[in-house]
Amino acid sequence: MLTRPASPADAEAITEIYNQGIEDRIGTFETEPRTVEQILAWFDAVGPLGRFPIVVTEDEGRIVAYAATSAYHSRACYRGIAEFSVYVARDRRGQGAGRAALTGLIEAATKAGFWKLLSRVFAENVASRRTCAAVGFREVGTNLKHAKLDSAWRDVVVVERLIEENID
Ligand SMILES: CC(C)(COP(=O)(O)OP(=O)(O)OC[C@H]1O[C@@H](n2cnc3c(N)ncnc32)[C@H](O)[C@@H]1OP(=O)(O)O)[C@@H](O)C(=O)NCCC(=O)NCCS
Repeated sequence: MLTRPASPADAEAITEIYNQGIEDRIGTFETEPRTVEQILAWFDAVGPLGRFPIVVTEDEGRIVAYAATSAYHSRACYRGIAEFSVYVARDRRGQGAGRAALTGLIEAATKAGFWKLLSRVFAENVASRRTCAAVGFREVGTNLKHAKLDSAWRDVVVVERLIEENID
């Protein structure tokens, strides 16, 4: 498997993988599927030439996962913090692609100068919690009843990883 910066040519594969994640109701509060045009607009806003890295993981020419950073907060003091997400194609989960994508994203975020990555993971999302732990994230704590998904309150675990190279 190879992880590399994403490009607009990857938008279709990213859309498909993200929409599977939305459908599966395990990784995000989002419920509306995305279109390729929306993903391309996202690329324009934050994509490969922007401040927030996005990476894809390929296996034999097929994109099997992606991971992306996004803005954490508009206050200047938080400029070195990014939120992240990671999604693996449904038929390729549990085969190392999530770990590969997240590892590549951490490398890209390190080069981009971020000092911390963070996210919120559904408490029951064992695969995501294990993947985060495997690449050095710690669990900060749990936000109880953070929001509703399909009318049910969900708890989320806050995870963070310091990037020591960018902390002086
Ligand atoms: C969560 C997700 C990104 C993990 O990626 P993955 O490719 O399935 O995971 P990997 O094969 O790289 O495994 C990484 C670690 O997690 C563990 N793991 C993976 N799936 C697991 C599962 N279902 N149950 C328990 N542990 C699991 C692996 O054993 C491995 O841990 P180890 O190195 O300690 O053995 C992927 O399953 C996915 O896309 N899920 C749906 C969307 C989602 O939940 N995204 C996260 C949003 S925060």
